[in-house]
Amino acid sequence: MHTESGSRSLLIKHAAEIVTNTGIAAKKGADMNRLMRITDGALLVKDGIIDWVGAMDDLPALDEKNLKVIDANGCSVIPGFVDSHTHFVFGGYRPEEFFWRLSGTPYLEILERGGGILNTVEATHSMCYEEMLQIASQRLDAMLAMGVTTVEGKSGYGLDLDTELMQLKVMGELTNNHVVDVVATFLGAHAVPPDYHGRSDDYVEFIVQKILPAVVEQGIAEFCDVFCEKGVFSVEQTRIILKAAMAFGLKAKIHADEIVSFGGAELAAEIGAVSADHLLQASDQGIAAMATQGVVATVLPMTAFCLREKYARARKMIDAGGALALASDYNPGSCFSHSMPMLIALAAIQMKLSPAEILTALTLNGAAAVGRADRIGTLECGKQADVVILKYPSYLFLTYHAGMDIVNTVIKKGQIVVDKRKNKGEI
Ligand code: NIG
Ligand code: FE
Repeated sequence: MHTESGSRSLLIKHAAEIVTNTGIAAKKGADMNRLMRITDGALLVKDGIIDWVGAMDDLPALDEKNLKVIDANGCSVIPGFVDSHTHFVFGGYRPEEFFWRLSGTPYLEILERGGGILNTVEATHSMCYEEMLQIASQRLDAMLAMGVTTVEGKSGYGLDLDTELMQLKVMGELTNNHVVDVVATFLGAHAVPPDYHGRSDDYVEFIVQKILPAVVEQGIAEFCDVFCEKGVFSVEQTRIILKAAMAFGLKAKIHADEIVSFGGAELAAEIGAVSADHLLQASDQGIAAMATQGVVATVLPMTAFCLREKYARARKMIDAGGALALASDYNPGSCFSHSMPMLIALAAIQMKLSPAEILTALTLNGAAAVGRADRIGTLECGKQADVVILKYPSYLFLTYHAGMDIVNTVIKKGQIVVDKRKNKGEI
């Protein structure tokens, strides 16, 4: 785990470019392509907050003696990535399942047989708090190294009161003690636990009456999510859980239309969810409704890739005037990867998104999907200084250098927390 110390003030000088969105809300439609680009740029951070951004020529005179100065000559500077959909707190692994799926066994059939998510639930139950904390912390380290400075994480591998709360508490402790900011989401409705087999309405009632109030009382989640899917939780059950959560002040997300076209996107629009996620099978009406209601459509191309499914229609979602975010869905089942380079490659090549749209989807729109667009997601005065310096002079290399990690330096709240430069004096 990282300990934070030292100055939170620094100056990045002579960046080949600084590329960012501007604003405090998700960008929609054609606006996702409009980035601000400053050449020979400078960025000043004071006490972890961005204080000045602009061209070197306009940089006011500064006393550099008291500042950490980074020469970013030859490098592109972008906002830290926001991974707005993950399940990174889990026990055990499911490697066999990956190959069963590749040989044709459907994802939901494995779950129906008591495998899949339920397999991870068993492994998660056998962990103690310290073990869970340690492994989750190591996973955040690996994500940070790829430029991810904020991570949303979901519970959902407990499916009982104690373990759901434990997963959320681990995320709370990490957000206090780890460099990466963690946004916690309660996903008690991730699967129907074996005790409730055939009685999913009773489990929904248990969530609403018992787990949700405890989560709220302890103040350990910002969002509530439901796996709204044929054979898992119906649209009506999802509505009941999310309305209850929203009445408690939590914000809503939905695992929507992942395997079957099921009305999840429509429900997200109806109830005012912040995001609807997956959307591989989202209907035309669902896509239009999300755009109209300002639901962030969060697509997870690595999951489609790993499940060998057709990709969500991201192009249509943007062209319909919607806001799109990209996230990893890092979890031990459907997508055991948090690779930003792979995610970017799939978004560009398979989903036909432009480099600018991808950057927006992974920064400002990811921030909006976790309710933080006012604080993170762009490089502007007043925002938290979460910054990534790339090894190449243009952010286009994120896509062009396909599948390669080109992150040189990660700055979190004004501190250098990852530094891959060979010679630390230069980049
Ligand atoms: O987002 N679809 C439901 N939940 C996760 C997978 C969880 C798992 O397989 O462990 C997802 O794909
Ligand atoms: Fe997921």
